[in-house]
Amino acid sequence: MLKLGVNIDHVATLREARYRGVAGGEPDPVAAALLCEAAGAQGITAHLREDRRHIQDRDVRELRKSIRTRLNLEMALAPEIVALALEIRPAIVCLVPERRLEVTTEGGLEVAGNLATVTETRQKMNDAGIDVSLFITPDPVQITAAARSGAQFIELHTGAYAEHFDQKDARNRELNRLVEGAKQAHDLGLRVNAGHGLNYVNLPVLHVVPHLEELNIGHSLISRSMVTGLGTAVREMLALLAGYPG
Ligand code: PXP
Repeated sequence: MLKLGVNIDHVATLREARYRGVAGGEPDPVAAALLCEAAGAQGITAHLREDRRHIQDRDVRELRKSIRTRLNLEMALAPEIVALALEIRPAIVCLVPERRLEVTTEGGLEVAGNLATVTETRQKMNDAGIDVSLFITPDPVQITAAARSGAQFIELHTGAYAEHFDQKDARNRELNRLVEGAKQAHDLGLRVNAGHGLNYVNLPVLHVVPHLEELNIGHSLISRSMVTGLGTAVREMLALLAGYPG
């Protein structure tokens, strides 16, 4: 069964727009996470960015204590954040690239060019009982490097697929890259997740990508919840995932 990890950063973004730096503002991403779990989501994803623009340290601590599914902490390879992750111990970390000026995580992690650092962090996390995923584009070089690093998972960056969804040729090209990337990763013993830019329209077409275990979805789901409520938004997304043949 294809699992859903709900990315709740967007709830914290709304809170920070009004209550920047003040504890206790609304909406509360932890309360949102509990509603997502109650609606059937199999995991919660949060990105603790170095600039703390949305999720705060206290959110991660609270999520770790409160949720009953699995906390997937997205993070950059920054020493301060690595130390925090080792202390808080989420079930899994997803290493992502981070640039201050980006709106969201725009590219994939450069694993091949930073293999020693990625491997060292992967080892530290695994030693602490934390699984490691690497957020990468479906590039054969990066996938090979991900396997060399010893990571348990990759998360395939679906941003280019989502961006080109309305242009048939480009969409098919991106879809093919994802299909080939998932096959390569699986053959190398990596477990495969995917995410970024997925929504209620482009998700069913993604079902042709084999070996997927979990999709991490945030923006479209939280946006829809503004209209339908969070429980309904999660249940509607789960119904779409249920059609996955893998
Ligand atoms: N996966 C990763 C690694 C991400 O950085 C993000 C965006 O924060 C997502 C999934 C979710 O993307 P979206 O909000 O577009 O669904």
